[in-house]
Amino acid sequence: MSDKDQGVSRRQFLNYTIMGVGGFLVAGTITPMLRFAIDPVLKADAASDMVAVGDISEFSSEPQRKDFTLPVVDGWAEYDMGLSAWISIDEAGEVLALSPICTHLGCAVTWEGNESHPNEYYCPCHDGRYTSDGVNIPGTPPTRPLDTYEYEVRDGVLYLGQPVQR
Ligand code: FES
Repeated sequence: MSDKDQGVSRRQFLNYTIMGVGGFLVAGTITPMLRFAIDPVLKADAASDMVAVGDISEFSSEPQRKDFTLPVVDGWAEYDMGLSAWISIDEAGEVLALSPICTHLGCAVTWEGNESHPNEYYCPCHDGRYTSDGVNIPGTPPTRPLDTYEYEVRDGVLYLGQPVQR
């Protein structure tokens, strides 16, 4: 019996089998690589997450320091970032959540950290000073205001997100 008499020749059957097995192996190899390459795109944007830092009634015009942890996704790395904020509320009810990191060289800024400069944020490293709304005072080393945190108030709870430069 010749090859033409059969529905599929031995050669065709062998070709189909090799192509099928080869395709299966290539797909099995490439799929995990593609998944790894686009994994961050498939994940939810954790950078937009906000975390609760307390009941809004806890805060007043007097700045109060709060420490909190923010989940961060940076490419393939996921970790919790420890952060701090100086939080106050102005007469209009607007929340001001300031980063305590000095914009000069990164030391920690504290509210009323120097008795000679009441009602100001103070950086002890090089006598940096900021007004109560976090604006750098001319003539001191910092050249820009303190960063502010994104915030939301939901059901009476204050949530903070990433610090942003003003
Ligand atoms: S680091 Fe704050 S004034 Fe220099």
